[in-house]
Amino acid sequence: MVKIETHPVGGDNLGYLISDKGQCTIVDPGMDPSRILDRMDKEGLELEYIILTHHHSDHTASLPEVRRRAGGRTAASRYCAERLGGANMILIDGDVLELNDTTMEIIHTPGHTPGSICLLVDGKDLFTGDTLFIDDCGRCDLPGGSLEDMFRSMRRIRSLPDGIMVRPGHDYGSRVADTLGNQKRANPCLLAGSLEELSRI
Ligand SMILES: [Fe+2]
Repeated sequence: MVKIETHPVGGDNLGYLISDKGQCTIVDPGMDPSRILDRMDKEGLELEYIILTHHHSDHTASLPEVRRRAGGRTAASRYCAERLGGANMILIDGDVLELNDTTMEIIHTPGHTPGSICLLVDGKDLFTGDTLFIDDCGRCDLPGGSLEDMFRSMRRIRSLPDGIMVRPGHDYGSRVADTLGNQKRANPCLLAGSLEELSRI
């Protein structure tokens, strides 16, 4: 049975600890992984994967510390890996990683960066990094960003079932997490019907 914990990892960044029967995955260790590492110690969890939603340093700065203290395999898109000096696994759209009985599917969602990914766990929880926030989406004006790609990624996320929980990379919204159904009705980035509409947000 999968267990998901949300932890602050520096600033307003959110990191996640996904565990199933003694094995775990960290999504975005951020700048300060101490709470996640403490929880892993306390629960006696073995780290299998460190999955990075994208390369930005607020999501990845503590990666060397986490690797040193807990091991694990770093998994990231090629674009992300190239900017971090490599990764143990290169992720592409449609890849599925397993953590005991839990499946973790990679969805490539460029826009914030060309290598941004979302992670869909057991078809129920979507870890969106800086692609989709609660009531907002990631900025597209940083190096490699693309509003056109973001528009396509929003369409792709909109096509997923309403019951999915959206778990973003920052705590920017009124809530830490929300259902995708609520976000389809309330999030202007998901509601934008055209590129032009998205550009005005
Ligand atoms: Fe970012």
